[in-house]
Amino acid sequence: MGRFITLEGIDGAGKSTQAKLLAEALRAEGRDVVLTREPGGSVGAQEIRRLVLEGNPDRWSAETEILLFTAARRDHLERLVEPALRAGKVVVCDRFADSTRAYQGLSRGDLCDKVDALHKLMIGREPDLTLLIDMDPATAWGRAMGRRGSEERFEEFGLEFQERLRQGFLELAKRFSDRFRIVDGNRRSEAVAADALAHARGALA
Ligand code: TYD
Repeated sequence: MGRFITLEGIDGAGKSTQAKLLAEALRAEGRDVVLTREPGGSVGAQEIRRLVLEGNPDRWSAETEILLFTAARRDHLERLVEPALRAGKVVVCDRFADSTRAYQGLSRGDLCDKVDALHKLMIGREPDLTLLIDMDPATAWGRAMGRRGSEERFEEFGLEFQERLRQGFLELAKRFSDRFRIVDGNRRSEAVAADALAHARGALA
């Protein structure tokens, strides 16, 4: 069995950069690494990604979003993540179920129980290691707004939402303290990457 490593954090925290750097560093150590992301990572999930990330902020209710993100996750899991893990690979994934817990479950009304029930029913797996790239919401928000494209539904919820999200992720880190490691993202990218790699090596040892 391989190892499943996820990166989580608020918008603009630098997860995507860190996921890439981590995958490169692990490959340089001779490991077979699959780098992927959510929502997305498979053809079907990528189609759902467009539905859920484009358009007006009020396009979907939080409940509908839970279903869409979970549908995308199930497809991604069946087609990419589980086969890779069975083949003994390391899967590095930019966001996973903790994003649904934080974005849909904690930050937009208390839907945690529904998120957890659906996760148990349809996904039923947790990562071996989750790196929470924790960052000051105002700085992260500035970054996220600076690169806005067509996928801006969540960014349009505003800075206050990002602050709630950060708290939500920190709560998850407490709840799942066995697999969560908090990495201070308010630093140069090299320093963040070094910490992330150290935690990953620990999980792979
Ligand atoms: P992502 O592509 O990681 O955007 P960024 O690189 O800007 O962080 O994620 C897209 C958005 O989707 C992001 O705002 C978080 C949101 N999201 C959820 O709300 N629930 C989920 O389950 C997932 C996976 C993402």
